[in-house]
Amino acid sequence: MTAVWLLVISSAFMAVPGNLMKIPPHEEVARMARFVVNQCDWASMATISIHEPVKGQPFSNAFSISDGLLGNGTGVPYMYLTHMEISVQDLQVNPQASLSVSLAQTHYCKRKGYDPQSPLCAHIILSGFVQEVNATEGDFAKKVLFTRHPEMIDWPVDHNWFFAKMVISQVWVLDYFGGVKIVSPEDYYKATPF
Ligand SMILES: *[C@@H]1O[C@H](CO)[C@@H](O)[C@H](O)[C@H]1NC(C)=O
Ligand SMILES: *[C@@H]1O[C@H](CO)[C@@H](O)[C@H](O)[C@H]1NC(C)=O
Repeated sequence: MTAVWLLVISSAFMAVPGNLMKIPPHEEVARMARFVVNQCDWASMATISIHEPVKGQPFSNAFSISDGLLGNGTGVPYMYLTHMEISVQDLQVNPQASLSVSLAQTHYCKRKGYDPQSPLCAHIILSGFVQEVNATEGDFAKKVLFTRHPEMIDWPVDHNWFFAKMVISQVWVLDYFGGVKIVSPEDYYKATPF
């Protein structure tokens, strides 16, 4: 307990250079989840591998995501995928996946002196499955992905890229001491992160 308080006190007095983003209060966990998902340009996605020699085992891989423009996210993580990609091949067999994003991907944790594994360096895990979106939603996904990942515009056409999203079944929030907090998709989508 003493060590925990020392950590809180010492980090409160640490010099913080440059602009430090304002994050939601840690107890507002649904807002925090929406905030971190919107801030992060990429996520680690774990699938259940279909590839030998790790068939049936978790397989984690980096993917570009966007849930909307910075500061105006929808909470829905969109991705631009191709069936040529190794993890996407896993999803064709089993669409269940887990996405994780962390403020360690921003300047926030380094500037605050928070280790990526510290709960003060907020990190979020999404459980659910990945689904291709229809043309209407695809137009929106294209806009929010290509704005934040302009290089996508030039990705090779013959790879048959498509737009997909994660359909979230549960949100897990690690943003403070005391263990993981669970947020339902309903509360996650209701939250106003900004
Ligand atoms: C925020 O996104 C919504 C769609 O999700 C859009 O209707 C609205 O115009 C956007 N606002 C800004 C300020 O970009
Ligand atoms: C496309 O998907 C969205 C989101 O799931 C849904 O609300 C909409 O009705 C669908 N549109 C069509 C034309 O199927």
